[in-house]
Amino acid sequence: MSDGNGPLPGPDLARGVPLASIPDDGVLAGRVGDDAVLLVRLDDGVHAVGAHCTHYGAPLAEGRIADGSVHCPWHHACFDLRTGAADCAPAFAPLGRWRTEVVDGSVFVRERLPGPPAATVHHGAGKPRRVVIVGGGAAGHAAARRLRDRGFDGSVTMLSADADVPVDRPNLSKDFLAGTAPPEWLPLQDAAAYVDQGIDLRLDCEVAALDPQARRVTTATGERFDYDVLLLATGAEPRRLGLPGFDLAHVFSLRTLADAQRIVAAAAGARSVAFVGAGFIGLEAAAALRSRGLAVSIVAPEAVPMARILGEQLGEFLAGLHRDHGVAFHLGRKPVRLDGHALVLDDGSRVAADLVIVGAGVVPRTQLAEAAGMAVDNGILVDATLQTSIPGLYAAGDVARYPHGGAHARVEHWVHAQRQGQCVADNLLGDAREFTDVPFFWTHQYDLELRVTGHLAGWDELRIEGSPEARDFTARYYRWGTLVAAATVGRDRANLELEAELAAA
Ligand SMILES: Cc1cc2nc3c(=O)[nH]c(=O)nc-3n(C[C@H](O)[C@H](O)[C@H](O)COP(=O)(O)OP(=O)(O)OC[C@H]3O[C@@H](n4cnc5c(N)ncnc54)[C@H](O)[C@@H]3O)c2cc1C
Ligand code: FES
Repeated sequence: MSDGNGPLPGPDLARGVPLASIPDDGVLAGRVGDDAVLLVRLDDGVHAVGAHCTHYGAPLAEGRIADGSVHCPWHHACFDLRTGAADCAPAFAPLGRWRTEVVDGSVFVRERLPGPPAATVHHGAGKPRRVVIVGGGAAGHAAARRLRDRGFDGSVTMLSADADVPVDRPNLSKDFLAGTAPPEWLPLQDAAAYVDQGIDLRLDCEVAALDPQARRVTTATGERFDYDVLLLATGAEPRRLGLPGFDLAHVFSLRTLADAQRIVAAAAGARSVAFVGAGFIGLEAAAALRSRGLAVSIVAPEAVPMARILGEQLGEFLAGLHRDHGVAFHLGRKPVRLDGHALVLDDGSRVAADLVIVGAGVVPRTQLAEAAGMAVDNGILVDATLQTSIPGLYAAGDVARYPHGGAHARVEHWVHAQRQGQCVADNLLGDAREFTDVPFFWTHQYDLELRVTGHLAGWDELRIEGSPEARDFTARYYRWGTLVAAATVGRDRANLELEAELAAA
């Protein structure tokens, strides 16, 4: 991929480079014509693959190389360096591959190779033929893609209550809301790709009932779908606040593309927005709407935003970042009602609110599972292979609570949901894989990129190395002296290494 900004960095690999110039434990970044290419030496020879991540284009040379894979520095996708295959989300498309020739101690890279042949799987008796996925979000999409990418030739039906094809949900509170990402960037893939891949995607299709005995789901319009295996990937929905005035048309939550489009339309004629809640999505949306010139207020009950999750110092740092951009905080306060375009707080003060955006957390969408008799406790309880208490029924993503550290954890992160979807697909193909991936998420606010790996809940000690103010730090979170999570700014490689450390623990 050419960056369009002059010559690509690194040597011209078509002219050859010494074998010895490829680092033993890393990659050599170079170019072949207009393409940026990475060269790597593995135990079976020299391999050349595309140098930019197929998710958002990160420079993979800055990633982590381990066990024949490269892990992306931005959102932790991983690719097989021999085949270019995108092995783990959030990337799905493979890297390009080039033929390598070693002549007299030099490597030459000239010819781009065709993509890998379509995968084939052989189905034995007892393997599922009809997979139905309820949910068109991160987990559902990733499961469907994985099944097809691995050559599953049974039917795959994805039923989504959303009006739109699965979209890049994290973008909704970031570039899309800021107006810097056009709507056409949002679909994870267009509708035609689902047809090409043989994924029967039904939109505006709410599943109303699930009958595990008959192995059948019924939609709100009465349509029935029979399955051999079902994946529930119904995600979570924003918590609603039943306060007086909160049923007015200028009160919003933000979960779907349609929500984001409504907010963008309302913001066009507005001067002020009040956020209720200071979670990550609210803070991101606040930053996005500041960039549209709206006066932004944030009302939250805690004294320091995000302190419970990230610790006081980083919470103060984030709040300071927003204050520097003109955001007004009303902390230690709760709203009591909406009075037209004024949000009334519990101390009687009034906050200007041409729009109100409620970001008061989410609730897992477990209604179908509960009605079907599945074990549910703040999420659908699943075993390590992500199977629910009813055999043949799986759950993944925000809705699933899976075994972690002797208890159950429910994680609300994009990459995590996708990886769980991929894990379910692998298990449907017979892998019996236990889900052990370390959670990862990122947040983008103004020009700040914060990346977090691990389980942040329940830590008792925080050690910060570096300087938040200089946008260069690593925060390590411990529980009983054991590392459980880490947050970094400006240290993407360190974040990958900490993820690997957590995975090995
Ligand atoms: C605005 C926003 C920004 C975010 N930013 C980040 C971020 O930067 N980083 C990060 O890690 N995470 C982020 N997240 C969280 C992340 O998007 C979620 O963790 C992830 O989408 C969960 O995936 P999921 O598949 O479990 O659920 P979802 O993506 O919510 O998908 C659930 C799907 O199920 C469908 N559904 C529900 N019930 C039914 C039913 N009865 N019948 C049919 N379909 C049904 C829904 O319509 C939807 O299609 C963000 C979330 C939001 C809303
Ligand atoms: S850019 Fe590589 S995972 Fe996002």
